Amino acid sequence: MKRRDLLKAGAPLLLAPWLPGCGSSSSPINGGGPNPPLGSNNIARGLHVSWTSDPHTTRAVTWFTDGLNAPEGVVEFGQGAFSKTARAAASQAYDIDVLTHRAQLTGYDPEQPLQYRVRHGGDSLSATYTLKPMPRGAFRFAHFGDHGTSEFSRLVREGILRRGVDFVLIAGDLSYANGDQPIWDTWFNQVEHMSASLPMLCTAGNHEEKDGNGAAFKTRLSQPGNGRYYAYDLNNVRFIVSTGGAFIADGTLLAELLWLETELAQAALRRARGEIDFIAFAQHFTIWTDEEGRSPNNPTLVLLEENILLRYGVDLLLVGHDHEYQRSHAMAFGQPRETGYVQVCGGGGGVGIRSFSGQSAWSASQHLRYSFIEYAVKGRSLKAQTWAVDTPDLQPASQLTLIDEFELIARSPQARNEAVMPIRDASTLMAQNGANWRYVEAHTRLRNAKHLHQAIWHEHA
Ligand SMILES: [Fe+2]
Ligand SMILES: [Fe+2]
Repeated sequence: MKRRDLLKAGAPLLLAPWLPGCGSSSSPINGGGPNPPLGSNNIARGLHVSWTSDPHTTRAVTWFTDGLNAPEGVVEFGQGAFSKTARAAASQAYDIDVLTHRAQLTGYDPEQPLQYRVRHGGDSLSATYTLKPMPRGAFRFAHFGDHGTSEFSRLVREGILRRGVDFVLIAGDLSYANGDQPIWDTWFNQVEHMSASLPMLCTAGNHEEKDGNGAAFKTRLSQPGNGRYYAYDLNNVRFIVSTGGAFIADGTLLAELLWLETELAQAALRRARGEIDFIAFAQHFTIWTDEEGRSPNNPTLVLLEENILLRYGVDLLLVGHDHEYQRSHAMAFGQPRETGYVQVCGGGGGVGIRSFSGQSAWSASQHLRYSFIEYAVKGRSLKAQTWAVDTPDLQPASQLTLIDEFELIARSPQARNEAVMPIRDASTLMAQNGANWRYVEAHTRLRNAKHLHQAIWHEHA
């Protein structure tokens, strides 16, 4: 029996009694540390740390309280003593009586660990968490997508904590709330044992669209830029994060495309000047895939996006969406090409595992395993290791298993120069891509609708 059929027929994992059911807000929390019950208006829960500005000298702390009348929240922080405070701004999370609280921590020594805790009212204090300083040179991060609330989701987070990386990038499809907002609360409560102490940056997936076209995503996370598509430098890497069209209903797809063109052109120029060594592009959707039923590619992204990535020499494409692990050779338009990008699909982040229809020439490694990828950036070298958190027959494992590793060496000066190109305007971009805008929009809407349908029978059956 094929693995996919095993999952459908026996579903020993998907029917495990501890799994929160779709639509339930009272499921047991299995995310790690103690979590308060829902219903307390002055207890901070679902803490997660990120940055909206400089990754070294600022931290955004975000959390939730239940109801709409919580007292003002304050983050007490310092290095050795809680000598500073940051007041939080509160706003309502999308479509539920939950408040999101956001505070910015600044003015600390970025070379030293930082302790913080959250206070609501006089005596309601959270636990104390410690944030590691962000390294100035070599650093490591983890990447996965398609997380959900399963035991494998928990194993992925625990594995990442065990590896001791500096931050985590989740490539979309986070909670699979699909319009049922309390699932977001369950998800953040479960994730807290990782996200309260490890900065977490996210991309938007097609499942984030199902909550008010990204409204839950935007009202519950604190991220750079407009919170949907954004960019930041971390030492010698420029990270550029796209929605990949997940929020097409907001009418900003063309604006985002022009933003990508500009961002990538500037990043390529800065790389040629030696200010950065790598351009990493993150979004939810694969461009090329061998997943059964989705291969060979996402035609909209091939038409619109891939030539922009190739024009400016994106080094690494970090994605999810397809529920497996698949890593490409350097590639372009579905064929290996030395000057192309390496796509890494980390869709085995916990919600489920699907199947492959084959292995294309561009695919360097592929596994039907629950897993995450760890990247170590050191100068002109970027080494990656992929860790499975399960056994080969998809049972939870107590050990991490290395299932793939590869290294990217930064482009040569000549290759960097070749990727320095003028920024194109909208009409040029559309004409050169040969794109019929109405077709692209219609296809993207159809893709998003189809994925929702698939999710209902495939991931929550
Ligand atoms: Fe997914
Ligand atoms: Fe997806």
